[in-house]
Amino acid sequence: MRLKGKVALVTGGNKGIGAAVVRRFASEGARVWSGDIVTDKTNNFSDDLADKTETIVHETLDVTSHDSWQLIINKIVQETGKIDILVNNAGIYDRRSIEATTEEQFDKMLSVNTKGPFLGIKLALEALKASGNASIVNLSSTAGLRGSFAVHYGASKGALRLMTKSIASTYAKDGIRCNSVHPGPIDTEMGHTAVPPDQLEERLYQRIPMGRFGTAEEVANVILFLASDESSFVTGSEVVVDGGATCK
Ligand SMILES: NC(=O)c1ccc[n+]([C@@H]2O[C@H](COP(=O)([O-])OP(=O)(O)OC[C@H]3O[C@@H](n4cnc5c(N)ncnc54)[C@H](O)[C@@H]3O)[C@@H](O)[C@H]2O)c1
Repeated sequence: MRLKGKVALVTGGNKGIGAAVVRRFASEGARVWSGDIVTDKTNNFSDDLADKTETIVHETLDVTSHDSWQLIINKIVQETGKIDILVNNAGIYDRRSIEATTEEQFDKMLSVNTKGPFLGIKLALEALKASGNASIVNLSSTAGLRGSFAVHYGASKGALRLMTKSIASTYAKDGIRCNSVHPGPIDTEMGHTAVPPDQLEERLYQRIPMGRFGTAEEVANVILFLASDESSFVTGSEVVVDGGATCK
C-alpha cells in the first residue's frame, strides 16, 4: 500500500486520466476525493475495488470557481484535517488555429487549465501544510514543453509548467512538493479529439517512436510515483509520458 493513510483530491476524476488516478490511488490505500464538473459518476471500478468505494468520495467541482474549490476543500478538512495529495488533472482541449480562436475561447482555456490549478493550490495551501509531507501533481502536456498548433492550449499548459516550479521552490520548506506531468497522446476522449482517426498515421504512427496512444493507467502510474513518498526528493520536475514523442 504505497499511499496508506493519505488523503487525496483529484480534479476531473470522473473519466480519462483522472478516473485512472482515482482508481490507482484507492487501490494503494488512499482516501480519495474526486472533484468533477460532470456529476454523473461514470468512474467504473474493477471488481476488486467495488467493495472499497467508501474510500472514494465524488463531489461536484468547477475548478474555475473559487467558491466551488472552497466548498470541497472545507469538506475534506472537516473530515480529515489535511490534504496530502492534490492532483490538478481537470482540463479542456480545443484544436484550433489562432485565427480561429476567439478571445472568449482563449479566456475559457486559461480559466480551466491554468486558473483552476492556481485556485486549487492557493485555497488548499493550509491543508497541504497541515500534511507536513504533501505532494501536488499538475497535469500539463507535451504542448506545455514545445510549440503547439492550438496556441491557447499550449499557453495554458506552458504556464502551468512554470507555476509548478514557483510552488516547488516557495513551499519546499513547508513540506510541499510540486511536479508537473507531460503526457503525449493518451487513449481518452480528449486524446482522440486531439488526434482524430484520419490523422493517426501522420501524428501517431510516424511522429511517436512507440507508435501508439499511451493509456490512462500508464499516466496514473507516474502520478502515483510523484504522489507517494517514493519521490521524496523530487520537486519542481517535469515528467514526460509520451512514448518518446519529444525526443525528436
Ligand atoms: N488525453 C491526452 O491525450 C492528454 C495529453 C496531454 C495532457 N492531457 C491532460 O491530462 C488531463 C486529463 O485529460 P483526459 O484525457 O483525461 O481528459 P478528459 O476530457 O477525458 O477528462 C477531463 C475531465 O476533466 C473534467 N473537467 C473539465 N472541465 C472541468 C472543470 N471546469 N472543473 C472540473 N472538472 C472539469 C471533465 O468533466 C472530465 O471528467 C487534462 O488536463 C489534459 O489537458 C491529456
